[in-house]
Amino acid sequence: MTSPLDTALRGHTRALLTLWRPNRKGPPDRLTHDELREVAQAVKRLSAGLSGERNKAGRDYLGTEDGRTAYLLHFWPVSYAQTRAALKLAGLTPPPGGGRVLELGAGPGPGAMGLLDEGWGELHCGDRNAEALQSLQTLTRDRAQTFVWDGESPDAALPPGAFDLLFASHVLSELWKRAPDRVERRLDLLQSLTRRLSPGGQLLLIEPATHLLNAELLALRDAVAAAGLFITAPCVPQGPCPARAEGVACHAATRWTPPPLTEQLTRAAFISKEAPAFSYLCLSAEAPAAGPPAGALRVISERLTNKAGRERVVTCGAEGKQSLSAPPGQGETWRGLWRGLSRGDGVVVEGAERRETGLGLTAGSVVTGWR
Ligand SMILES: C[S@@+](CC[C@H](N)C(=O)[O-])C[C@H]1O[C@@H](n2cnc3c(N)ncnc32)[C@H](O)[C@@H]1O
Repeated sequence: MTSPLDTALRGHTRALLTLWRPNRKGPPDRLTHDELREVAQAVKRLSAGLSGERNKAGRDYLGTEDGRTAYLLHFWPVSYAQTRAALKLAGLTPPPGGGRVLELGAGPGPGAMGLLDEGWGELHCGDRNAEALQSLQTLTRDRAQTFVWDGESPDAALPPGAFDLLFASHVLSELWKRAPDRVERRLDLLQSLTRRLSPGGQLLLIEPATHLLNAELLALRDAVAAAGLFITAPCVPQGPCPARAEGVACHAATRWTPPPLTEQLTRAAFISKEAPAFSYLCLSAEAPAAGPPAGALRVISERLTNKAGRERVVTCGAEGKQSLSAPPGQGETWRGLWRGLSRGDGVVVEGAERRETGLGLTAGSVVTGWR
C-alpha cells in the first residue's frame, strides 16, 4: 500500500524534475537515458565528496551546477523523507495554527517541504546559498520566508521573535568541520539558539548516520546534556549516552518506498538501496512536560538471530544498553510489532523475563510501541 509519505514524494520528485529541466522535455517522474548518465555521475561525485574524508562538506557545492543537480535530484528526496521520519520519532506535532519554525542550513528546501507537509506553519529558512533558497521558494510555492545566513559568522542575524521549533538538517556537521573545538562551537550555537525557543519549543537536528558523524553527534549530545539542556529524543536516559560509552552507534532508519527517480539513480550511481539511515537529536531548554513512559526502550541495532532462532535487538533505556530478545514462535499478540521493529523504534515492555544479556519476551509479556 502506498503511504502518504510515498505519495507526497512522487509529487515532489516531479516538481524537482521540472525545476531542474525548465526548458527541456522529458518523462515527468524519471530521467531519460542520457540524463541518467549525466546525473548519476554528478551524484557519484557529490556522494564521494560527502563521505570518507568529506572534502566537499562545508564547501559551497550547491553553488556549482554539478552539486545543485546531484542535491536536487538525489539528496533532496532522502532529506525530505528523513525530516518527516525524525519529526514522527521525536513526537513533534505543530501547535494549533501551525506554529513558528526557524530552519537553518535549509538548502533547496527538503526539510521545509517536509515541515509544511507535516502541518507546520510559519517557516523562516536560512542558508548561506541564496540560489538554493530560491529553489526552496519555488518548490514550496513561496510558503516559506527565506534569509541569507552564514552559520560560522559571529554576526549572522536571525529573524526576530521566538520559535516553536528550531530545525537544522545535515548542516551542523558542516559548520567548523576542520576546527579541533568544533563540538564546543556547535554547543555554543545550540545554546544561543535554544534561547529563541518559545515555552515548550524544541530544537531538532538531523545528521548523517556514518560512524564518524554519529560519534560526533553523540559527543555533542553529552555536551548538551552536561550544559543543562534536556534531550527529548531519541534518548530515554538524560545522563551520559550509554551507546557512546561503548563506542557503538545510535541512529534511525527511514521507512519509505523510494520514488522512481531515486530507484533509477541508486541503481545507476551504485548507491545502497537500503532505507537511508540518519542520526537525530531533539532538545529542549525546559524539562519536557511528559518524559518517556516507564520501561521505554529505544532499538539501537539491526535485528540479529542466533542458531536456535532466537531473535534479538540491542536497546537503550533507563538501565542503559541491553538486549531484548524473543524465542521463535507464532501465537503472542506482540509478535507483529516485534517483527516490524527496526533501528530507531521505541518500545515499552512489561512482563519480560531477566536473562543473562538483558530482557526476554515471554508469552505473558505486553509490548507496545512508543514513538
Ligand atoms: C547537506 S546540505 C543540507 C540541506 C538540507 N538542510 C537537507 O537536509 O538536505 C547542507 C546545507 O548547509 C548549508 N551550509 C553549509 N555551510 C553553511 C554555513 N556556514 N552557513 C549557512 N549554511 C551553510 C549549505 O549551503 C547547504 O544548503
